[in-house]
Amino acid sequence: MAPGVLLDDAPELPHYISSKRLNNDAPKDIFPDGIRTSGQHPPIYSKLKKYNDYPKEISGPTVWKAEDYQNSPEKWVHWFTEAEKAELGKATDDFLATGTPLTGITKDNFPLPTLGPLMESFREDVLNGKGFILMKGFPAQEWSVDKSATAYIGLGTYFGYFVSQNGKGHILGHVKDLGDDPTQIHRVRIYRTNARQFFHCDTSDIVGLLCIHRAKEGGESDIASVHHVYNTLQKERPDVVETLTKPIWYFDRKGEVSEGQDPYIRTQVLYIEPTEQGRVYCKWDPYFVRSLTRFSETGEITPLSPEQLEALKVLEETCMRLSLHMVLDVGDIQWLSNEHVLHSRTSYVDHDPPTPRRHLLRLWLSTPESEGGWKLPFHDSDERKRGGIQVDNVPPKYPLDGE
Ligand SMILES: [Fe+2]
Repeated sequence: MAPGVLLDDAPELPHYISSKRLNNDAPKDIFPDGIRTSGQHPPIYSKLKKYNDYPKEISGPTVWKAEDYQNSPEKWVHWFTEAEKAELGKATDDFLATGTPLTGITKDNFPLPTLGPLMESFREDVLNGKGFILMKGFPAQEWSVDKSATAYIGLGTYFGYFVSQNGKGHILGHVKDLGDDPTQIHRVRIYRTNARQFFHCDTSDIVGLLCIHRAKEGGESDIASVHHVYNTLQKERPDVVETLTKPIWYFDRKGEVSEGQDPYIRTQVLYIEPTEQGRVYCKWDPYFVRSLTRFSETGEITPLSPEQLEALKVLEETCMRLSLHMVLDVGDIQWLSNEHVLHSRTSYVDHDPPTPRRHLLRLWLSTPESEGGWKLPFHDSDERKRGGIQVDNVPPKYPLDGE
C-alpha cells in the first residue's frame, strides 16, 4: 500500500500542524525556530575519535543487566497516584483553556508542583542513570486523545524540548500500522508498519511512548544498556567494536532531505562525547543503513562490507541476549535515553475492527545541555542552523508521512 493512503485514519488534532512557535528551552542560536529537525547530519570528521581512544570497559549506573531489573519493577516503574493524576489533569485543562497552541507549551505554562520535581529526578535517571523509566496508570482511557496528548506533551516539557520527527516538522508522532510496506525500507519509516523494529535509537536525547491502544498480539518492547553491550563486545568481539567506531557507515535520510544535502550521511555508530565526561554513546538504526542499496548499486557509496554486516548482526544478537523485556499496557508511558539505551519492538498483529489498532504517541525530546545528544561531535554550525526550517520548507522527495 502506498505511503499516506490511510491519511484520514489519523485523528484531526492541532498538534499535527508543523509549527514555528518557539519552544523555550531550545538553544535559539542553533535552532532558530525552536523546533529542531529530526534530520540526520554528518559529523565534523576531525572531532571523531579512533578506536584506541575508546575505553576498554565502562562503569557506573548506565551499565546494567536485565537481571538487575526484571524482577524488581519498583526500581523502574512509577504508578501515577490519584493526586498526581488530578494535578496533571488540572494543568492540562488550564493550559487548554488559554487557547495556546500545543507547540507553545512549556514548564512555565504547565505547572506541576508535586509531579514536576519527580519528573526532574526521572530526567536525571534517564539522561545520566539507567536510562529508562516506565510510568503506569496515565488515564488514557478516561481522557480524550486531545487531552491525553496535551498532558503527555506537558510532562515531556520537564524532560526537554521537542524535536521534529519527520520532514514535516511533526512533534507528536503516531506509532501505528498505516499499511506501509516494510520491505520498502528506502522510503518507509518502520514505525508506520507492524514489522519488527531491530535494536536502534531515535534521533533525539529522549524518546517517550504513550500507549493509547495495545495490539492483539506482539508489539512488545526490549531495551538494552549500550554500555553493558559495549563492555560485553569489548570482551567477546573487540573487532566489532572497532568496526562500529569507524566513520564508514552510511545512513539513509529516507528522502527527508533539505536543499544542498546528500540523501545520506557518512558517520559512525559509537562516539565519544566531546566533554570532560567523555562518555561513549551510540547512534544506530539498522533500517537506515540497510536501505541504501539504491546508491551502493550505482557505485555512489560503498556497500556494506562483510565486516560491517558481521558487526550489524553481532550487535543485534548481543542486544537481544542482554535485553530487558517489557510490555506496554494502555496508559503506560515509556521514557528512554537515546544515547545509552537501545530499544526494539516485536512485530505485531492488530485487532479486527471495530477494536482500535495498536496506537502509541511518540515524543522526541532533546536537552540544552546535550544539544541533541551528549554534545554530539555532529553538525557544523551552518548545517545545524538550517535546522528544521529548510527541511520544513522543502518538500521531502518521498511522501513519508501523512499525518
Ligand atoms: Fe525507536
